[in-house]
Formats: sequence, C-alpha cells, structure tokens
Amino acid sequence: MNQTALEFSKPTERNISDDPLNDPNYKTVGEVTVPNAAMTTKNVDVHYGDKQAIFNVSLDVGRNEVLAMIGPSGCGKSTFIRCLNRMNDTIDICRIKGDIRLDGEDIYSRNMDVVLLRARVGMVFQKPNPFPKSVYDNVAYGVNLHGLSNNKSELDDIVEDALKRAGLWDEVSDRLNQPGTGLSGGQQQRLCIARAIAISPEIILMDEPCSALDPIATAKIEELIDELSQRYSICIVTHSMQQAARVSQRTAYFHLGKLIEVGATDIIFTNPSHRLTEGYITGRFG
Ligand SMILES: Nc1ncnc2c1ncn2[C@@H]1O[C@H](COP(=O)(O)OP(=O)(O)OP(=O)(O)O)[C@@H](O)[C@H]1O
Ligand SMILES: [Mg+2]
Repeated sequence: MNQTALEFSKPTERNISDDPLNDPNYKTVGEVTVPNAAMTTKNVDVHYGDKQAIFNVSLDVGRNEVLAMIGPSGCGKSTFIRCLNRMNDTIDICRIKGDIRLDGEDIYSRNMDVVLLRARVGMVFQKPNPFPKSVYDNVAYGVNLHGLSNNKSELDDIVEDALKRAGLWDEVSDRLNQPGTGLSGGQQQRLCIARAIAISPEIILMDEPCSALDPIATAKIEELIDELSQRYSICIVTHSMQQAARVSQRTAYFHLGKLIEVGATDIIFTNPSHRLTEGYITGRFG
C-alpha cells in the first residue's frame, strides 16, 4: 500500500469528535456494519418517558460473532440489548425509534410475532432465572410452546442435547425431575442457557451473565460462550474487561447513551481511537 492510501485508511483525529456527548451528530468511531449481518440496527433512539437513554446508535451483529458491549454503569448497555428482542416492550414508559432487523426482517413491524422473536433472539439475564419447574421441564418448556418436537422421545433428545451443549448434562442427568431452582447458581445459569438453545435461536443476548457467579462457574460460562459461537451469534454485556477480551471478537464501547467506538476487541483494548474509550479501559472512569 502506498503512503497516501495508508493515510486515508487511518482514522484521523479530525474525524473524531472530542465531545460526542454534546455533539448531536456524533458518529461512532469504527465500522458499525458488518457483511452478512445476523442483525442490523440503525439510528436507534430510546426514551424512558422524557429521558433519552440511547442516542442514534447503529450497530450490526455479525454471524457467529461474539460482540461485547462495555461502558460505565447507566450508559445504556441493558437498554440497547433489550431492544434486540423487544424486551423493552414490557416497560410502559419505554419508546424505541430506529430500524432493527433480524435477517433483514423489521422486528418492530406489526407482523412480527414477539413470542417467536424471543425464541429466535434468546436472552440470558444477570441473575439466573429458572422457572419453578423441574430441570427437564425448564429446557422442554420452549420446545413445547413452539411445537418443536413430535413425541416424547424426540423431546427427550432435544432436552439432552441442549443440556449437553450447555455443559450441564453430566451434572444433572440423574436429577432431571428435581427443581431447577435447587441447582447451584452456576448450574442454574447453564440451565438458562440450555433453555435458550433448546429452541435453536439465531442470536443469544447475555446481560452480565456471570456477575452473580464465582470464578469457576464464570470460567465454565466463558468456555461455553466460545463453543456456542460456532453456531450462534452472541451479544454479551459485561463489566469485566478481562471477560470481554477473553470471549469476544468485537467490542462496542457505550458512554452516556452513545456508541462511542466499535472495533476488533484486541484493538479496542490495546489501541482505542477515542479518548473516552481509552479513559474507560485504562480505568480512569467507570
Ligand atoms: N425501566 C426504566 N425506567 C426508567 N429509566 C430507566 C429504566 N431502565 C433504565 N433506565 C435509565 O436508562 C439509562 C440506561 O440504563 P441501563 O440500565 O440501560 O444502563 P446499563 O449500561 O445497563 O447500566 P449498568 O451497567 O448499571 O447495568 C439510565 O439512566 C437508567 O436510569
Ligand atoms: Mg445493565
């Protein structure tokens, strides 16, 4: 590459607004789109009543990628991730503007079946939330709801396969009929992951999935994320920069409702372009 081409390919300081928070036309640093995206979001604004929580965010989720979302508390990570499977619909005062598509299909269109959407875009929460049912029934629940098995033996196979892929089968195969809530926290979180993958989602959203877990349970979930990314796209919100660095290929940095910067995880953590990203990853704030 000649010198001129190189100069053009580098983001220049001039392109980077130094005060994104007061710049209504702030443009995220880095490539917000990806080829052949699993999900696309364009110009998303979110309000809770009069208060705006997300400002003009555009960000694609790639196929089979693990996308980490990081940023200081209150910057809108949960709000944004909840837009992706219309979880914010359950909050009365929440209004969402913008364009969000799953495989090209507008998820906010009137024709979208929200129950089906939430099967295609599964979610794992911060606190493990198994249903007050047996281990087996937790995993079978969505399969039955969506009529995905024809008979009991097919259902048994789906449940076993999901528990295996969630790395939990060996620990629970002899207690399938006992309550899911009786498992340890880390096991409950893997049960919730099994419940999500039993219905073959396209994307799995995880909002701080390890923050209630000890380091060993956390390591298991991180290993699992790596394996799951062979089949699914994963968006993970995390407060642990080490975790983002370990599990993700791309990282998005949010600050006060704006998407400041997005890029390859190794670059974001070693050589970010924006001073706000740098301030956060070096621990100056957050
Ligand atoms: N249900 C709600 N009603 C009103 N305001 C809300 C609601 N949920 C979030 N907010 C506000 O929206 C903004 C973004 O919050 P959000 O929970 O998305 O941040 P976050 O980045 O996930 O923070 P944390 O890291 O602490 O989980 C905050 O100002 C918050 O107070
Ligand atoms: Mg949050």
